[in-house]
Amino acid sequence: MKMRNYNSMDKFYYEQSFSKIFIAINFLLLLSIFLIGLFWYKMLAFFLAVVLFSFNCIVIYKCVQMLYKRVYGQRYDYHQMESLFSIHQLIEPKIPLPPMRGFAGSPDFIKSLLFHLMKHQPKLIVEASSGVSSIVISEWITKYSPESKHYALDHEEKYAGLTRSRISQPNSTIIHAPLKSYSLDNKEYKWYDMSMIEDLDQIDMLIIDGPPHFVNDLARYPALPLLKDKLKEGCIIILDDGRREFEQQIVKEWAQKENISVNYLDHLEKGAFVLEFTKS
Ligand SMILES: C[S@@+](CC[C@H](N)C(=O)[O-])C[C@H]1O[C@@H](n2cnc3c(N)ncnc32)[C@H](O)[C@@H]1O
Repeated sequence: MKMRNYNSMDKFYYEQSFSKIFIAINFLLLLSIFLIGLFWYKMLAFFLAVVLFSFNCIVIYKCVQMLYKRVYGQRYDYHQMESLFSIHQLIEPKIPLPPMRGFAGSPDFIKSLLFHLMKHQPKLIVEASSGVSSIVISEWITKYSPESKHYALDHEEKYAGLTRSRISQPNSTIIHAPLKSYSLDNKEYKWYDMSMIEDLDQIDMLIIDGPPHFVNDLARYPALPLLKDKLKEGCIIILDDGRREFEQQIVKEWAQKENISVNYLDHLEKGAFVLEFTKS
């Protein structure tokens, strides 16, 4: 199938022709109102004037919406660029980093992750999911904390392999861990096969960015109940996509059952939670 790629120039021409069509329709409608009103029925002219007014209202609404998106989009884009500079300046990666945003972590999230790595200097890091975040963690280990160990679980062999192929740090391990069914509080969930990390203990940073939400509604809920016995006192838990209702529900449920302090990072484009775990 042939795909049409829209770039910013296409968008520019599209917007230009949109305004030309808008002006042409307005002109034609005005001319008809004038002619009909002059020679024919006043009622029809009135009806056309109402159509013209409604049409203009819709177009003005669409223009304001476009402007709003552009201004806020630019602000977010600039914010992401700033974060990207910080990431590169901090870790100086030896290979180009793969694209961020979309399925991958956004630059502001990755920058925040780096901030917490620098602040807490974790010795054992576990990630639920893998991707650009794993590459950045491995580069952080190389540059700042060569003693630290890092394990990332990915349920998709393809993505586990892709991430692994981009990592040269021997203390970073990307594990293909297919999803398995777990029963928690009489509910069924699918989560990474825990047998893959049964030897791990005293985790001091847990980063949760998977499994994807289409696996289960509360797909990331099992992370804490399944891993809590492996967490160190004061373990930092970072949960991406905090703006989503599912993630907010997950944190609410965790906070009811476990001793965690909750900090919500509202300034990140996808939102994120940073939690500190204390053993009950
Ligand atoms: C939210 S992504 C993980 C992102 C990761 N933390 C990062 O910063 O790149 C969760 C999972 O989606 C899968 N995934 C990654 N890229 C994908 C893509 N482009 N399309 C579909 N699934 C993808 C992988 O299995 C990954 O573990």
